[in-house]
Amino acid sequence: MEPEGREPSVLVVFAHPALERSRANTVLADAARDAAGVRFHDLYETYPDFVIDVEAEQRKLLAHQVIALQFPMYWYSTPALMKEWLDLVWLHGFAYGKGGDRLEGKQLFVACTTGGPAQAYHKRGYNRFTMEEFLRPLEQTAALCGMTWENPYVVHGARLKDSAHIQGEADRYRARLEGLAAGARETV
Ligand SMILES: Cc1cc2nc3c(=O)[nH]c(=O)nc-3n(C[C@H](O)[C@H](O)[C@H](O)COP(=O)(O)O)c2cc1C
Repeated sequence: MEPEGREPSVLVVFAHPALERSRANTVLADAARDAAGVRFHDLYETYPDFVIDVEAEQRKLLAHQVIALQFPMYWYSTPALMKEWLDLVWLHGFAYGKGGDRLEGKQLFVACTTGGPAQAYHKRGYNRFTMEEFLRPLEQTAALCGMTWENPYVVHGARLKDSAHIQGEADRYRARLEGLAAGARETV
C-alpha cells in the first residue's frame, strides 16, 4: 500500500503454486500487501497458464527501485513460474549483455521460506550447504545485471512454526520491506 500520489518503490514479485495449502507465505504475503511503499505482484494469480506478458513485466521492473522476490524454496530453488519469469523477462539487451543495462543500480531482495530447519542448512546438516550457497544463482543474477544484492530474509522450518511465530516473522518482513522502500525513496 502507498500514500496517495506516491509511486511505490518496492515491487514484491511473489510465487507460490499452491497458496491454498500455504501457512507461511499467505501470512507473509498479507504483510507485504500492507507495507507502505510496496506493490505486490502475484505471479501464479496473474499467469495461471504460464503465459507471461513480457513487456508488462519489464515495465513493472523499470518502475521500481527494489525488486523483491518472495517464494517458498522448492527443490533448492524458486518455484517453476518464478524461474520462467526470470527466463522470459530478464532478457539479453534488457537486463544484461549489450545494451542490457535497464536494471542497473536497482536492488534485488529475496524473501524465502524453507521446510528444512536452520540447522539443516549447514555443511554438517542434511542439506549440506548454507542458504547463502543455495541463493548464489540469484545473487550472481543481481551482479550480472548491475544490481545490489540485499541481505535475504529467510524463514526456516516454516511448516513447523506456530501461528504466533509466523505472525512475528511477517511483522519483521513488513518492517524490512518498509525500510527498503524508505531507503529507496531517499536515493531518488
Ligand atoms: C515441491 C516442493 C519442494 C520443496 N523443496 C524444498 C527444499 O528444497 N528445501 C526446503 O527446505 N523445503 C522444501 N520444501 C518445503 C517448502 O519450502 C515449505 O513447505 C514452504 O516453504 C512452506 O511455506 P508455505 O507454508 O507458504 O507453503 C518443498 C516443498 C515442495 C512442495
